[in-house]
Amino acid sequence: MEKRNLGAIILAAGQGTRMRSDRPKVLHPLAGRPMVRHLLATVNALAPDRVAVVVGPGMEDVARAAAPAPTFLQLERLGTAHAVLAARALFENFDGDVLILFGDTPLITVPTIEAMLAARAAKPSPAVVVLGMRAPLPNEYARLVLDASGGLKAIVEYRDADTATRALPLSNSGVMAVAGRRLFAWLDRIGRDNAKGEYYLTDIVRLARAEGQTCAVIEGEMAELLGINSRAELAAAEAVVQQGLRLRAMAAGATLIAPETVFFSHDTRLGRDVTVGPFTHFGPGVSVGDRVEIKGFCHFEQARIAADAIVGPYARLRPGAAIGTGAHIGNFVEIKNADVEAGAKINHLSYVGDARVGANANIGAGTITCNYDGFDKHHTDIGAGAFIGSNTALVAPVAVGDGAYIGAGSTITQDVPADALGIERAQERQVAGWGPKFKARKEAAEGQPKAGPKGTA
Ligand code: UD1
Ligand code: MG
Repeated sequence: MEKRNLGAIILAAGQGTRMRSDRPKVLHPLAGRPMVRHLLATVNALAPDRVAVVVGPGMEDVARAAAPAPTFLQLERLGTAHAVLAARALFENFDGDVLILFGDTPLITVPTIEAMLAARAAKPSPAVVVLGMRAPLPNEYARLVLDASGGLKAIVEYRDADTATRALPLSNSGVMAVAGRRLFAWLDRIGRDNAKGEYYLTDIVRLARAEGQTCAVIEGEMAELLGINSRAELAAAEAVVQQGLRLRAMAAGATLIAPETVFFSHDTRLGRDVTVGPFTHFGPGVSVGDRVEIKGFCHFEQARIAADAIVGPYARLRPGAAIGTGAHIGNFVEIKNADVEAGAKINHLSYVGDARVGANANIGAGTITCNYDGFDKHHTDIGAGAFIGSNTALVAPVAVGDGAYIGAGSTITQDVPADALGIERAQERQVAGWGPKFKARKEAAEGQPKAGPKGTA
C-alpha cells in the first residue's frame, strides 16, 4: 500500500460534567494513564504526520498531558464541527487522511483504525469513512443512514431523528477518517440549525455527498467504542482495559492464578514464567524479571523486581524499590527507595526506606529503618551478608558493615563496623523463685474486693 499522509485530531474540549469532577474528563486514568494519553499512544502507533488535541479554556493540565502533541483552544463549546475547526492551523495544505477521534472514547484499537484507513485507500476513495457500531437499543447515539448500495447517506443525530430513523441498527461512534484536502472547506459550511443548536461534525456526510463524493461505514466492536461520561462508565472501560492487559500478560508467559483479581498498569512489564498470586495491584512503572513469584495481596508502584525473587504475600513496594535477583520479600514488608541486593531476605513485618540492603543480608522480623526526622530523609546502608536481629530500629543516617550482626531489639544510632556485633540492650535481670511468689500473692487476693484507683472503690 502506498504511504499516505496521516493526521489526527482528538477532541477533548468537553469538561465532562457527568463525571462530577474537578479535573477534566480526559485526565481521568485508565490502567494508570490519563485517557488522553491512552488515545495518543494508539494514534502514535500509526506514525501520524500531524496530531492535534483540541481543549477548552482552563485546560492547561490536558495540554501538559498531551505534549508533545500540540493543543488548540476551542474558546466556546459550539459543537464537534466547531471543535475540529480549532485545529485548522496545523492542517494548512494537508493532503491525506485526517482521523477525528473523541478524547472520551479512548479504547479504540490500532487494527480498527487501520481498517478505516484501508477503506479510505480503496479506489474510488470514499471522502469520509465513519466508524459505526451496533449499540444495543434504545440508545441516544446518532444513526447511520445507508443507501441501497451500502454507502453512507447521512448521519442523523438522535435528537433530530424521527421514529423510523431511531430504529436503525447502526450508530455513529463519532470516529471518522476524512479527506484532509476537503475537510476544512466542508466544516466552514456547516450551520447550527438543529435540535442542539450546535455545529455538527456529522453534517460533513451530507456536504460530501452533495459534491458527488461517496462516504463509507466500517463497523467496530462496541467494547472499543465505549464512551466515558460518568464514573460508572469509567469503571466499565477500566474493566475492558484490565481484561486486555491480563490476556497480554498471560500470552507473554506469565501465570495469573486468579486473573480477574490482578490489576495492571499500561506499562507493567513481566518477564517469562512469572507467577502472580491473587489480588495484586501493579501501579505505574513496575517491571518484574523472569521466574519471579509474587504470592498475592501485593501492591507495587514504580518498583523493579529482578529475576527469581520471591515477593509477598502482602508486600508493598513503593517508588524506588529495587529488589535484586533471588531476593525474598515477605509478608507485611514495605520497601521504599531502597536497593535490596541479590539474595537478601526481608521476610517479615519490616519497613525499609531510603536504604541499601547488601547481597545476602538477612533482615529480621520487625526491623525498621527510621529514615525520617520530621524534616529530612536519611540513608541506611546495610552491608553484604549482614544479619539484623528482630525488632531492630536503625536510626538513619547509619551504616552496618559487611558481615556485621545486630542483636535483636537494638536501637542502632552509630555505625557498626564490618564483622562486628552491634547490640543495644538494657541489662536483663533474673529474680530466682519469683513466679510461685507472684502466684501465691494473686491467689490470696482472689475473692476480696479489688482495690480500684483512688476514689473509685
Ligand atoms: C457525538 C456525535 C454523535 C455520536 C456520539 C458518539 C456529533 C454532532 N455527534 O455526539 O453522532 O453518536 O458523539 O458518542 O458529532 N467536543 C468538543 N467541543 C465541542 C463539542 C464536543 O471538543 O464543542 C468533544 C467532546 O469533548 C467529546 C466529543 O467532542 O470528546 C463528543 O462530544 P459530545 O458532546 O459528547 O457529542 P455527542 O452529543 O455525544
Ligand atoms: Mg458524547
